[in-house]
Amino acid sequence: MKEDLIQKTAEAVLRSNKVVAFTGAGISVESGIPDFRSAGGLWERFDPAEYATIEAFHANPQKVWTMLREMGNLLESSRPNPAHTALAQLEKMGHIRSVITQNIDHLHQDAGNTRVIEYHGSHKRLICLSCGRQYEKGEVSLDTLPPLCRCTGVLKPTVVFFGEPIPWGAHLQAMEEARDCEVMLVVGTSAIVSPACDIPVMAKRGGAVVVEVNREETQLTRYVSDWILKGSAARTLQAVLDRVTGLRGS
Ligand code: APR
Repeated sequence: MKEDLIQKTAEAVLRSNKVVAFTGAGISVESGIPDFRSAGGLWERFDPAEYATIEAFHANPQKVWTMLREMGNLLESSRPNPAHTALAQLEKMGHIRSVITQNIDHLHQDAGNTRVIEYHGSHKRLICLSCGRQYEKGEVSLDTLPPLCRCTGVLKPTVVFFGEPIPWGAHLQAMEEARDCEVMLVVGTSAIVSPACDIPVMAKRGGAVVVEVNREETQLTRYVSDWILKGSAARTLQAVLDRVTGLRGS
């Protein structure tokens, strides 16, 4: 069953130069970064109501920064896994035109994808809540929390917290990519956080083939996805890449 679907996915990718990948935390689990909602995920250790809303950040930036610093150290030490490198190779081969990611870990760029839309921002940049000045993370010491701007305002990662708007440019680009793509690979997302979860729906409405890659079914599986490749993102996307490579050679 899965072999047939790998073949079907590879044939769909092979026929198109308008493949878009839409990714969530599950694609980075095999890089050692826990996702949010699986057993042992981040939200089991840190209550999102206390650590992931913009209200919580304003109420106690030092407390939220303790989690951010711990996560940041983990993200800095993580490397792309075969799922990321397969998507980068498929871009090099001319099939993938963009990656829309909910992840803030920068692993798609590290793997080599060049058109990455960071729908929920990035942990690599900080912004001052008072004057709006932006910093690269490496410019700022995290010895004392919260880190402060030169104007003495509190600095926050350019990560989208619950209660904050999606960066307008990223939203527009993601919608256009979803509307225009012919194939969308939806990889490692529970697809329950809005408005990100509308992106595969937009692709479907635009006539794309929507293929899920996930260890388990999601709410997309029955209503939006054309099929699901159940299993590890790393092994599955590597298998799709191998099949595309084989079909191109044959
Ligand atoms: N291979 C494939 N799928 C996996 C793997 C894996 N190795 N590990 C986990 N998954 C799947 C899980 O089954 C789940 O469906 O990845 C998904 C991860 O879901 P979430 O933890 O909810 O992460 P995500 O969908 O990215 O969350 C969306 O919620 O908390 C906010 O801003 C945060 O961007 C995040 C958003």
